[in-house]
Amino acid sequence: MLDTFRRGAEAAGAQVDVMRVADLDIEPCTNCDGCRDTGECVISDDMEGIYKKLAVADGLILASPIYFGSVSAYTKAVIERFQIYWFINFGNENLKHLKTPTRRPAAFLAVGGMKNKKYCDSVRITAEALFLNTRLNFRSFLCLQGYDEKGALEKNPEVLKEIYQEGWDFVSKNL
Ligand SMILES: Cc1cc2nc3c(=O)[nH]c(=O)nc-3n(C[C@H](O)[C@H](O)[C@H](O)COP(=O)(O)O)c2cc1C
Repeated sequence: MLDTFRRGAEAAGAQVDVMRVADLDIEPCTNCDGCRDTGECVISDDMEGIYKKLAVADGLILASPIYFGSVSAYTKAVIERFQIYWFINFGNENLKHLKTPTRRPAAFLAVGGMKNKKYCDSVRITAEALFLNTRLNFRSFLCLQGYDEKGALEKNPEVLKEIYQEGWDFVSKNL
C-alpha cells in the first residue's frame, strides 16, 4: 500500500524517503518528562534519525497495519516519541523558538484484515492526535479493510489505482 502511494507521490514530483520502523530500534515513550525543558528526548536510539528527517521534510506519510484495533506497536512507539513536539509546540513557552511549521501536509495509510469501520475510526483518532501535536496538516487518510492475506492488495488493480491516485493527489494538491 505504501509502495503504491509512494509511486503516485513520486510521479507527482515528490522525493520520498522511506523509513521502515520495524527495522529500527525505537523505544516507546516512558513519560519521564525529560523533554519538557529542552524539547529533546533523552532516549538515544534510532528515533534521532526520524527527528532529523522530519525537521527538514516538506510533509509526512505514515503507514501501519491495523493490530488489535489500533496501529502496530512499532508505529505507536514512533508516535509516542513525537511527544517532544507537545512541549515544543504547546506545553512550554520557552521552547517557542523550536515550534514546527504549520502548513506541512501529512497522510496516514492503514490496512486491516477485517471489515469493521470502528478499526479505521480508531486509527484515525490516533493519526489526528499525532498530527495535532506535530502541527502537521492532516490531508489524506486511506484505511483499507478486508485485506488479510499477504499479497491480497496486489490482486486488486482497481484499489491499487485508487492508492496511486491518492499519492499523486497528496503531492499535487498540497505541495
Ligand atoms: C497481531 C495482529 C493483530 C491484528 N489485529 C487486527 C485488527 O484488530 N483488525 C483488523 O482489521 N485486522 C487485524 N489484523 C490483520 C492485519 O491488519 C492484516 O493482516 C493486514 O493485512 C496486515 O498488513 P501487512 O500485511 O501490511 O502487515 C491483525 C493482525 C495481526 C498480526
